[in-house]
Amino acid sequence: MIIGTGIDIIEVARVQKAIDRWGEDFLKHIFTAEEIAYAQKRKFPTQHYAARFAAKEAVYKAFGNNTSLSWKDMTILNDENGKPYCRLNDSAFKNKITISISHTKDYAVANAIITS
Ligand SMILES: CC(C)(COP(=O)(O)OP(=O)(O)OC[C@H]1O[C@@H](n2cnc3c(N)ncnc32)[C@H](O)[C@@H]1OP(=O)(O)O)[C@@H](O)C(=O)NCCC(=O)NCCS
Repeated sequence: MIIGTGIDIIEVARVQKAIDRWGEDFLKHIFTAEEIAYAQKRKFPTQHYAARFAAKEAVYKAFGNNTSLSWKDMTILNDENGKPYCRLNDSAFKNKITISISHTKDYAVANAIITS
C-alpha cells in the first residue's frame, strides 16, 4: 500500500552557490560521509549533490508534515547497478522507501514513494 509520495526539483547552480559560499560546512550539514564520498568520485560532483538534496526533500515530502526528519537522518546510496535507495537511521522504521533520481547540467529531480 502506498503511504506517501514526494517529488522535488532543484537547480544545480543553487547547490553550487551554497558550496561556493559555505564549502565543507554546507556539505557536512546536508550530506553524510557516504554521500560526500560518492559525489566526490564523480566527474561533476555538484549534479550528484543536487540529486541527493532533491531525493532527501522528496523523502521528507513523502513522510508528510508530521515528521521530524532532518537532512542526515537519511543517506541516499546506490546499489551495485547504480540504482539509488534511501537508508534511514531510524531502525524502527519498517516500511519501504523507493526513490528515483535524474539530473542534467542544470537540474536535478527525484521522487520518493513510501509503501507498507
Ligand atoms: C541507468 C540509466 C537509467 C541512467 O540514466 P541517465 O539518463 O544516464 O542519467 P540520469 O541523470 O537520468 O540518472 C542518473 C541517476 O540514475 C540513477 N540510476 C543509475 N543506475 C540506475 C539503475 N540501474 N536503475 C535505476 N536508477 C539508476 C542514479 O541515481 C543516477 O544518479 P546518481 O549517480 O547521482 O545516483 C541509464 O544509463 C540507462 O541504463 N538507461 C537504459 C536505457 C534503456 O535501456 N532504455 C530503455 C527504456 S524501455
